[in-house]
Amino acid sequence: MIDPMTPPALISASILAADFSKLGEAIHQVETAGADWIHLDVMDGHFVPNLTMGPAIVRACRSATALPLDVHLMVEEPERLLSEFIEAGADSLTVHVEAGPNLHRTVMQIQESGCRAGVAINPGTPAEALRAVIAQADLVLVMTVDPGYAGQSFIESSVGKVETVRRLRDEVGSGALIQVDGGINETTAPLTRHAGAEVFVAASAIFKHPEGIRVGVESLRRALETKVSRDRA
Ligand code: DX5
Ligand code: ZN
Repeated sequence: MIDPMTPPALISASILAADFSKLGEAIHQVETAGADWIHLDVMDGHFVPNLTMGPAIVRACRSATALPLDVHLMVEEPERLLSEFIEAGADSLTVHVEAGPNLHRTVMQIQESGCRAGVAINPGTPAEALRAVIAQADLVLVMTVDPGYAGQSFIESSVGKVETVRRLRDEVGSGALIQVDGGINETTAPLTRHAGAEVFVAASAIFKHPEGIRVGVESLRRALETKVSRDRA
């Protein structure tokens, strides 16, 4: 169970489900609705089956908002692409444990550039895979779907995994933020919050909300706050 003194939850709005023909407007809407970060899903068609965006989109988002740009690299050999994303204006770069053998070097390269370094694990990768790197990382991302697409269903066993990562972080004495990504909505965000997550990535719950983007962000915020205040009672 999380400590009621835990800092506020951060919402990272994933533009993967946005209308790309109105990207600037969509970003402006999430920003004014109170999102904390903008999440960009970079996919290479190899590490995951889908192919999405590159540094040009990061640059376009950089010019559209002052919010931190949270770049999630679902690519093989991410170390080859770091400098391009850093130059494009990324504030944090997250790489996957499964994507390459030289994780420490990659994390160090990201941090040396002044960016926050994140390390992600897929649903099939045990929490223990983060042990060797969690002390060094600024962010750990527990994927709550297999990466590749927006709009997938949350994998329920992820809740226990977030609890395990939270314990691991406390055991190691790491300051890394715990992020969740995939199928995060008004129901699953509080569950993962309760388990110890602090940064909540959402695409469909925000950009495909039936009542619009603003209501999407506000509903997620309310769901996160409601659960925490119930914990306090
Ligand atoms: C999945 C991506 C996610 C995705 C989330 O591979 O990493 O960031 O955009 O989409 P939703 O919130 O719709 O599950
Ligand atoms: Zn993502």
